[in-house]
Amino acid sequence: MRILLTGGAGYIGSHTLVELLANKYKVCVVDNLSNSNIEFISRVQNITKKEFKFNLVDICDHNALSKVFESFRPEIVIHFAGSKSVKESFDNPLKYYKNNVFGSINLLNVMDKYSCSKIIFSSSATVYGNPEYLPIDENHKVSPSNPYGHSKLMVEKIIKDWSTTYNNKSCILRYFNPIGAHESGLIGEHSHDHPNNLLPIIENVFIGKENNLKIYGNNYKTPDGSGIRDYIHVVDLAKSHVAGIKFFDGTKSSDVFNIGTGKGNSVFEIVSIYEKVAKKNIPYVVEGRRKGDISESVADPSKARTKLSWKAELTIEDAIKHSVNWKLKNPNGYNN
Ligand SMILES: NC(=O)c1ccc[n+]([C@@H]2O[C@H](COP(=O)([O-])OP(=O)(O)OC[C@H]3O[C@@H](n4cnc5c(N)ncnc54)[C@H](O)[C@@H]3O)[C@@H](O)[C@H]2O)c1
Repeated sequence: MRILLTGGAGYIGSHTLVELLANKYKVCVVDNLSNSNIEFISRVQNITKKEFKFNLVDICDHNALSKVFESFRPEIVIHFAGSKSVKESFDNPLKYYKNNVFGSINLLNVMDKYSCSKIIFSSSATVYGNPEYLPIDENHKVSPSNPYGHSKLMVEKIIKDWSTTYNNKSCILRYFNPIGAHESGLIGEHSHDHPNNLLPIIENVFIGKENNLKIYGNNYKTPDGSGIRDYIHVVDLAKSHVAGIKFFDGTKSSDVFNIGTGKGNSVFEIVSIYEKVAKKNIPYVVEGRRKGDISESVADPSKARTKLSWKAELTIEDAIKHSVNWKLKNPNGYNN
């Protein structure tokens, strides 16, 4: 089976690449390296001892993408490529509509041209917006509160219409909060810009790149006042894509799944676990709430358990242990 990964050089893509190679799939990565580094190739080869193809291509470039399809002829696309910062999406919404929405339409057009009819799409829990009940199941209403979330929901709808109209197959995975790194410490989260997610910021404090962690809001309606999220180990998340590929063997053509653990942790709890695992104090200051943030987001992952036969296996302590290991070995990500 030939599988094309858009954005396969990124954080979630590179961990998924490792799982696909371990499962003996033939893989081709396309990535414009806008938020990654060519170093990922040797790191993934080092872990897997397997070969894969890489093309430096932007998914918005129809001709370049067509050439990749012409030579590789993928049967399935796993679509990670996109921009992912909620904060940046408020500052530059058009970038998000171009890269995430236009880029996805371009990809679907090229897939049609080469009769590739199966896609797994990286969506986000952000599409749910402020939850009306917890844990959030897939029937919860969708109401994103930021341009990034709007762009993800638009792509979900486009993919659903594309699947229905052409009788194609799609598997939409709504990720909750991926953290951690590969246990080897060779691949992990790498960002060209200042990170906005909790773990990469804690990591920067851990290695002394930043003086303290800014905790945005301690007056949410949660037991300790800080925001609660469903943190999932990136390796568990990566494995959900292998389950997604097997889902295409079934009869149902299109479905959407929450990919989370079903358990929530507050920011203060994460800081305390990190301090225990890293054996280092993480100084913090409490600031006002951040635009677009919500108080609590926890998945009901039971649909993925039933229909994809997938569930998260690793613990939050595993994720933080692997995150510490990655940062100690790669204080500047891949730019060492
Ligand atoms: N990390 C999270 O917290 C999270 C949560 C929910 C959903 N997601 C989604 O999962 C996907 C992967 O996220 P990630 O954390 O691995 O991000 P990432 O930035 O590490 O990876 C994205 C990859 O896509 C590439 N890319 C971006 N635009 C491209 C383009 N136009 N053409 C080709 N390549 C392009 C980047 O260089 C990068 O390697 C994204 O679509 C993101 O929206 C991420």
